[in-house]
Amino acid sequence: MPPEQVFDWLDAEANRRADAGLTRRLRPRPASSTELDFAGNDYLGLARDKRVAGAAAAAALRWGAGSTGSRLVTGSTELHAELEHELARFCGFQAALVFSSGFTANLGAVTALSGAESAIVTDKYIHASLIEGCRLSRAGIAAVAHNDVAAIKHALATRRTARALVVTDSVFSVDGDLAPLNDLSTVCREHGAALLVDDAHGFGVLGEGGRGAVHAAGLAGEPDVVMTLTLSKSLGTQGGAVLGPRRVIKHLVDTARSFIFDTGLAPSSAAAALAALGALKSEPDLPARVLSNAARLSEQLSDAGFRVTQPEAAVISVQAPSPEDAVAWAAGCAEQGVRVGCFRPPSVPDGISRLRLTVRADLSESDVDTAVKVISSSAPPRAATS
Ligand SMILES: Cc1ncc(COP(=O)(O)O)c(C=O)c1O
Repeated sequence: MPPEQVFDWLDAEANRRADAGLTRRLRPRPASSTELDFAGNDYLGLARDKRVAGAAAAAALRWGAGSTGSRLVTGSTELHAELEHELARFCGFQAALVFSSGFTANLGAVTALSGAESAIVTDKYIHASLIEGCRLSRAGIAAVAHNDVAAIKHALATRRTARALVVTDSVFSVDGDLAPLNDLSTVCREHGAALLVDDAHGFGVLGEGGRGAVHAAGLAGEPDVVMTLTLSKSLGTQGGAVLGPRRVIKHLVDTARSFIFDTGLAPSSAAAALAALGALKSEPDLPARVLSNAARLSEQLSDAGFRVTQPEAAVISVQAPSPEDAVAWAAGCAEQGVRVGCFRPPSVPDGISRLRLTVRADLSESDVDTAVKVISSSAPPRAATS
């Protein structure tokens, strides 16, 4: 085969995706964008907060633009240690370990806490990073129906291994619905399993002062519970962390390959996360503002006849009739100055395309009302049920 034909199969795949309406497109935003953002994950509006961005800039000047190595070589600064201490203390766990992203934190936690002698039982709607962790783990995997505690219990009861790990999101990332964490903890305890909760969308928004869904469920600091989070949503920066019992964190330092063989988080991101955590502590009403904006948005869209999910945290979704409709709908919103997310298969396992909407603490009621008007006026036929 001539070398220029080696990648011809990519064109066939691209055509197949285009025919199915599944082509993805990058839309770089300018620094001075005036778009109303209902798509990002900066739930507390801290990404551009002067205290947070200023801390990042100062840390880059003091510590350098990068961490210079993996965490076990030169990539651990005093900022990383301070951030781990503060995250663990704030969320109520014995210890924490910071990773370069939420994705690598999930990969590290799932793989290090399972293995070929272990069973993993998951909700089938967990985030892609957890799914990749399961695939890499070599464990036997049972992915059960969404939020089906009885199915999780059955999978735990019929497993052939002594060890088991139950893996779930706290707030599911597409529809924004909640996992039944207390029920999951109960079945884990009945069957000697550990519970790993990805609190990416709960941390900063749910629980007392934004301590997250795990804390709200009374599970923080429990000996059989591990929580992961990302610094890229409520804390407005980059990075991820695993929180849990001290011996779990020690085990991750020794064995989690996405920790050991990855360059440490940039000092600027660690400093930004510390500043954002400080902002959250000093403004404990920020999470409530997120929740009230989510409730307003969901209620108005539902009144307008759209199929909208319940606002449990910062994320809601609105069903679109088809992938093409979802893309055109999101593009129509962008033309009118409102940025919304657009989720299509394979990112949505149930095959239903959706607009994914997120809210921030710093949006005003009139921003929310504007978004509702724009979303309604750009809607494709058949999007509203009434
Ligand atoms: C539920 C969930 N877990 C993990 C991640 C990954 O976090 P990060 O973007 O920091 O890699 C995300 C983010 O997209 C997420 O939504």
